[in-house]
This record gives sequence, C-alpha cells and structure tokens, in this order.
Amino acid sequence: MHPTPRAPLLAAVLCGAALLAGSCAPKEAGTRVPDIERGRYLVTHVGVCHDCHSPRGADGRFLAEQWLMGGPLPFAATVPMPWAPVAPRIAGLPLLTDEQALHFLTSGELPGGRRPRPPMPTYRFNREDARDVIAYLRNPAPGQ
Ligand code: HEC
Repeated sequence: MHPTPRAPLLAAVLCGAALLAGSCAPKEAGTRVPDIERGRYLVTHVGVCHDCHSPRGADGRFLAEQWLMGGPLPFAATVPMPWAPVAPRIAGLPLLTDEQALHFLTSGELPGGRRPRPPMPTYRFNREDARDVIAYLRNPAPGQ
C-alpha cells in the first residue's frame, strides 16, 4: 500500500481557511521583495551594464567612486549608424520611476515609446529580475 500524499491537500485547506481570514491572499507572480544582491549579480554578470555606464581611468580600470555614473563611451561604431556617444548615469536611476524602469527593462521602451540608440542593448528581463536590477541600481555600492 502506498501512503496517500495528504500534505498538499492539507496546505490547500489551511490556505483556504487563512484566505477567509484575509491572511493568505494569492501573490501576483513577481511581487516578492526585490533582492538587491541578485540585482547586483544581474547588472554585473548578466547585463554587464558597467561596461558602458561606468567610466574608466587612464589605466582602463573602472573608477570605483564613479561606478555606474555614466560618461563618454571608449569605443565607437565602425560603420555609419545611429549611435549614442555617451552613456547616461544609471546609479540611482535618476530619470525613471520604478514603473518606467520596469517597463524599460522588460521591453526596451522608455517613457513615450522612445528607445535608446545603440549601443544600448534591448533587455527583456522578466519582471522579477527587473525589480531586482532596479533595487540594486537605486543604491549601488561603489565598485563591482
Ligand atoms: C554596450 C553599451 C551599453 C550597455 C552594456 C548598457 N547600456 Fe544602457 N545605455 C547605453 C547608451 C549609449 C545609452 C544612451 C542611449 C541614447 O542616448 O540614446 C544608454 C541608455 C540607458 C538608459 C536610458 C536612460 C534614459 O532615460 O534615457 C538606461 C536606463 C540604461 N541605459 C540602463 C542600462 C542597464 C540597466 C544596463 C544593463 C542591464 C545597460 N544600460 C547596459 C549603453 C549601454
């Protein structure tokens, strides 16, 4: 004889009871508390945002005290194309609200449907990852 798996049923019943009491509201996917450390990982190892948005010193190393503060790009397109020669500051995300930043990081669209020029890539993070990226960028620690 196999034991009957009762745990999920029990959880559903308990959650149902708690729902009636108002303490077990179903969560919208992606509404967990943003994870700043994961945001740091996504920025530095997945999006590699600092490659363009962090200025470098004469030795080519990133300037820790200007981490993600923006500046002129140290490279240019080799063929004529739309091109932004400067990457703006993204430390603190001063130009975007949380909602605007979320839309941007999941679709590539800025307010009003604008899109940044190359070489800014179009990112399509999922909403959970985008929230982590925003939480980190609001207050990034200097350096990587
Ligand atoms: C290859 C270079 C490059 C990388 C990598 C890059 N960016 Fe950019 N980004 C740019 C440039 C250049 C612009 C300016 C585009 C323009 O002026 O049209 C820009 C623009 C932006 C803007 C628009 C600000 C505004 O309101 O106009 C935001 C926000 C931004 N980047 C965030 C990020 C984030 C977050 C990452 C990493 C997940 C990232 N960028 C990675 C080059 C880059």
